[in-house]
Amino acid sequence: MGAQTQEVFGRDSGKLVEAYLMTMNQGSINIGRMLETLEIVLDESIETNVRLGQLVAQHEPTQYTEIGCGLGIPSLTLEKLGYASDSTFDKSRGRVDLGKQLARSLGLHRTKYEVKNFRYWYPTMHAGSFLVAHNPAGEGSNGDLEVDVLELAIARNYNLALVPRPNLDESLRELSPRCRAESSLLKREERYCSRLRESGYNVKVHDIGIIVPANVIIAVK
Ligand SMILES: C[S@@+](CC[C@H](N)C(=O)[O-])C[C@H]1O[C@@H](n2cnc3c(N)ncnc32)[C@H](O)[C@@H]1O
Repeated sequence: MGAQTQEVFGRDSGKLVEAYLMTMNQGSINIGRMLETLEIVLDESIETNVRLGQLVAQHEPTQYTEIGCGLGIPSLTLEKLGYASDSTFDKSRGRVDLGKQLARSLGLHRTKYEVKNFRYWYPTMHAGSFLVAHNPAGEGSNGDLEVDVLELAIARNYNLALVPRPNLDESLRELSPRCRAESSLLKREERYCSRLRESGYNVKVHDIGIIVPANVIIAVK
């Protein structure tokens, strides 16, 4: 279990693992195929979600929306740290229901879960609010959802906290420094950072992975 997950959720951390396993079973991920790496994937996924929430909390957001939330662990982390979401949404009712169930089991009631499709619905907040997204991706996604999140932030002057969609096989290969340098994930991240800097943002990239490299892009106006 990741250190920050333990710090924020303490003895409740196991509930996050159980809930995460359920969302994986619900989706297209074939758990059987990757049993060997399941524990790493679970710990990493939960920990990077928690770390994303912690990093956003450092900016003391007055408003924020989490897009493609799944269980909404960044929002739950933010709530634990004293911040409530304007919207924590996903197009999948099943995932949102699991998120709500997890929140209830943690005694957290201020995270505003919603079933919404980002293709047809955009959050409305004041400029300077945060858009938060951890691995926002559709089935068989080519990354267009995260580009849409980034472009919405730029268009509306929102701050952005984005963990781009990893390609798991690629991420595992990235454990080798040479592969890391050649990775298309890093190239994507570089493109996003340039686009944000050109649009007037201060951009910082934090590696929030434990074993597998995972970056969060924090862009603030
Ligand atoms: C890879 S999962 C990540 C879930 C969660 N953020 C996490 O990292 O644990 C991508 C999520 O994006 C959601 N999603 C995909 N397209 C979406 C859309 N158009 N609007 C809202 N959510 C969407 C999926 O339902 C899924 O829950």
